[in-house]
Amino acid sequence: MHKHEKPRSEILEELGEVTGEGGAFVTTYHPSRHEEGWLLESVRAFFEEAWIVDVLGRVRGGKEASVYRCAAHPRTALALLAAKVYRPHMFRSLRNDAMYREGREVLAEDGKIVKKNDDRVMRALGKKTAYGLQVAHTSWLVHEFRTMRYLYDAGGALPRPIAATSNAILMEYVGDAQRAAPTLNEVSLGPREGAELLDVVLDTVRLLLRQGLVHGDLSASNILYWQREVAIIDFPQVATIERNRSARRILECDLQRVCAYFASQGVERDAEALAEDLWTQYARHVPEPLVADEAIW
Ligand SMILES: Nc1ncnc2c1ncn2[C@@H]1O[C@H](COP(=O)(O)OP(=O)(O)OP(=O)(O)O)[C@@H](O)[C@H]1O
Ligand SMILES: [Mg+2]
Repeated sequence: MHKHEKPRSEILEELGEVTGEGGAFVTTYHPSRHEEGWLLESVRAFFEEAWIVDVLGRVRGGKEASVYRCAAHPRTALALLAAKVYRPHMFRSLRNDAMYREGREVLAEDGKIVKKNDDRVMRALGKKTAYGLQVAHTSWLVHEFRTMRYLYDAGGALPRPIAATSNAILMEYVGDAQRAAPTLNEVSLGPREGAELLDVVLDTVRLLLRQGLVHGDLSASNILYWQREVAIIDFPQVATIERNRSARRILECDLQRVCAYFASQGVERDAEALAEDLWTQYARHVPEPLVADEAIW
């Protein structure tokens, strides 16, 4: 080693890099003791694959996930990225999700569909073993990431998805170094801007419908607002029209929540009429009733 060179450990520390297999990270953000383990394990791959170089702070702890502001690796040509990291309790309890889950394939971490005749996995899911819960959890996350990918490529209003691991999604960060974008329910829009932004939201709803999907948790608290633009987030509950008998109802609920917010901003739209209109225009498949023995995720 040349005299003037810093020791490798110091360089890695400065980079905020992983110090080797199973090693500790150095991040600007100091996680609390209870979050440290799962946070660092969940974002390790983002460091190793050179997507991020540091975790700078926690943006918000949601019900199911916490979102962290990260310094992007220069190769991304972005300054900041948002890492959505699921809480560990997701491994222990399945959410009350049967209505959304109906008709969805189980997706493995590599995005491949888990075959219905894969007895080991299907049994584990049915019995809700620890392994089964993990498979279910990963499936949610892969659905979320896939949907974001499709929607972003199709021109939807959402943060650009960057990468995913079995427990975290990395995406474009909306906001600046001081603060993350507020959600729509935290801001007031005039009726004019409101009408424009409602159209943007509805365009994204249409893009989803065209792909046979419904968001399932759309509301003003899952829409970010920044520099007069909106970005829809939080896609794990996305429902499949073709195989989910509740899809029409889920769409209407989504639109009702969105319209309630925009009505409070002086933009009146009839959610029911909108749902009917969009459904007849875009929903190509009406699902057959499901047979009882179909174990569906
Ligand atoms: N790309 C992003 N850029 C900036 N902030 C974000 C981003 N994604 C999410 N957030 C913030 O993190 C919060 C939680 O994200 P998200 O809604 O995806 O997770 P969640 O756990 O399902 O949340 P909740 O249960 O509160 O709905 C959002 O309300 C938003 O404030
Ligand atoms: Mg949310």
